[in-house]
Amino acid sequence: MFDAIQAAPPDAILGLSEAFRTDANPAKVNLTVGVYKDESGQTPILETVKAAEAKLLAGEGSKGYLPIEGSAKFCDLTQKLFFGADHEVVASQRAATFQTPGGTGALRVAADFVHQNFPSASIWCSTPTWPNHPKVFQAAGVRVQNYPYFEAGCHGVNLDAMLATIREIPTGDIVCLHACCHNPTGADPSAEQWKQIADAVYERGLLPFLDFAYLGFGDGIEPDRSALMEFARPGVELLMASSYSKNFGLYSERVGALSVVTPTADSARTVASQVKATIRTNYSNPPSHGAAIVAEILADSELREQWNGELADMRERINGMRGLFTRTMAYRLPDRDFSFIERQRGMFSYSGLTAQQVDTLKEKYSIYIVRDGRINVAGINSSNVVPLCDAISSVLNGE
Ligand code: LMR
Repeated sequence: MFDAIQAAPPDAILGLSEAFRTDANPAKVNLTVGVYKDESGQTPILETVKAAEAKLLAGEGSKGYLPIEGSAKFCDLTQKLFFGADHEVVASQRAATFQTPGGTGALRVAADFVHQNFPSASIWCSTPTWPNHPKVFQAAGVRVQNYPYFEAGCHGVNLDAMLATIREIPTGDIVCLHACCHNPTGADPSAEQWKQIADAVYERGLLPFLDFAYLGFGDGIEPDRSALMEFARPGVELLMASSYSKNFGLYSERVGALSVVTPTADSARTVASQVKATIRTNYSNPPSHGAAIVAEILADSELREQWNGELADMRERINGMRGLFTRTMAYRLPDRDFSFIERQRGMFSYSGLTAQQVDTLKEKYSIYIVRDGRINVAGINSSNVVPLCDAISSVLNGE
């Protein structure tokens, strides 16, 4: 049976990390997978995570299963972090939150839930979007369609085209939106544009599905929540997949959450019973360690403040690299405008490099970039920025 199986193509993002690992060039640069790197090129464990882990290890008394929905403390703190402790959604208890294995786990649980309960609904994704979005949704049996989002000419959001399509999506369909730090483009709507998008989504009777993987990586926790605050209007419904991979650096621990905001506390309980049935047949119940770390930090005012500082350091380093890259490119190619890199937010920017130029960078210089031209700005540091900009300039000059 197995001899007849054809090999699957490597993953568009994680497959490149595999190739990077086996590249023997000591000057290689990895700007592929969305993982934070510090100035020395390492992905550090946050001090607050280390401190929380030490406390957890000292006090841990059991490795028994978590409930299907995960740790109640973690889910409660997650709701309060994302919506704000005093938000009406939290106070009214009309949201059900589930601890999931990473943000991808939340996306998959949501897609299974959608498929089981709204079998004819499509999920609409931005063009472009994270390449795993359509794959996860389709794997759950959900039809995926696309709305226009990015305009290469201005390196920003094409709001008119986006709104025009949203206004034609069939009522009852689902619109997947990147709550901040759009992956892969780095281009986010302004707060005023989010208001127009939310108006259009609700006027049309659509269900918003916010993918919130980068809270705190844009401009800070408060400003990064502006899209969610716009969508979380009184009485309305929404789905939200959130992740702690990036903002707590807990990539390998797989810590995320799915929040389903319903009209009433009663419907939240009913919906929760369905989501739990989905989880039980998928991975039964989530792993505990990473979520326990997050809960420990968020519940302890001192650790939480320290974590805010560590998050700010990561964000500021990335934004600093955005400026450094823009200035370094301006010296090399003064006729070409790279200022959009400095304006964009989060880990990623769409560089505008073609797949062929990306291939040349890999083959000639061991510089690894996703083939759609997405660069992980967090992989840039003051040691690699000059060779990186030299190589990009040469490739853009056709050398
Ligand atoms: C990325 O886009 O690089 C990250 O979200 C990691 C992943 O799983 O693709």
